[in-house]
Amino acid sequence: MATLILYYSQRGTTDLVAKTLAKNLDGHLLRIHDLKNRDGLTNRLFATISAFREEKTEIRPAKVDLTNYDTIYLGSPTWSGSPTPAIITLIDRCNFTGKDVVLFATMDANRGDSNLRRLQEKVKMRGARVIECFTIATKNKSPQQLVNDTEAIIEMKDLKMYKR
Ligand SMILES: Cc1cc2nc3c(=O)[nH]c(=O)nc-3n(C[C@H](O)[C@H](O)[C@H](O)COP(=O)(O)O)c2cc1C
Repeated sequence: MATLILYYSQRGTTDLVAKTLAKNLDGHLLRIHDLKNRDGLTNRLFATISAFREEKTEIRPAKVDLTNYDTIYLGSPTWSGSPTPAIITLIDRCNFTGKDVVLFATMDANRGDSNLRRLQEKVKMRGARVIECFTIATKNKSPQQLVNDTEAIIEMKDLKMYKR
């Protein structure tokens, strides 16, 4: 049994956090893609509304089989204080029964906590046991700083303890 790092990233910061987790925790990486165009100001406005309303979207891969994993890291950027539509869509297609789940939320600066709260409710309804969660502020941080911050959280929360 192994560890899976499952995440969505629009602009690459969550991707870097996820890759740092995978490297340090010997996890497999799986990035979820949102097939809707989210670029540009107008689309950002629609994205904010979609996240707030918890609208679903089309994702690739459409489904993820968690059978071979017992620890799952699930990460989403914060959009309007909420999880992204790609991650909301994914959660409702996954069976987390018997899985240990670590939730992480990236954000510019605030409302990552409300994103985490909603993620927690959603995965628990699908059978997960949430063992840890954390937020990471990304605004104006260099890639190296993001890697350092992620590694600091791994140490602080002793996440290597859950390595299989
Ligand atoms: C539509 C939209 C809404 C956002 N809402 C918030 C927010 O409520 N709070 C916040 O701190 N950052 C917010 N952000 C910023 C992202 O959460 C942050 O930049 C995150 O690191 C992006 O992750 P990514 O680079 O993996 O896409 C928002 C970004 C977008 C595109």
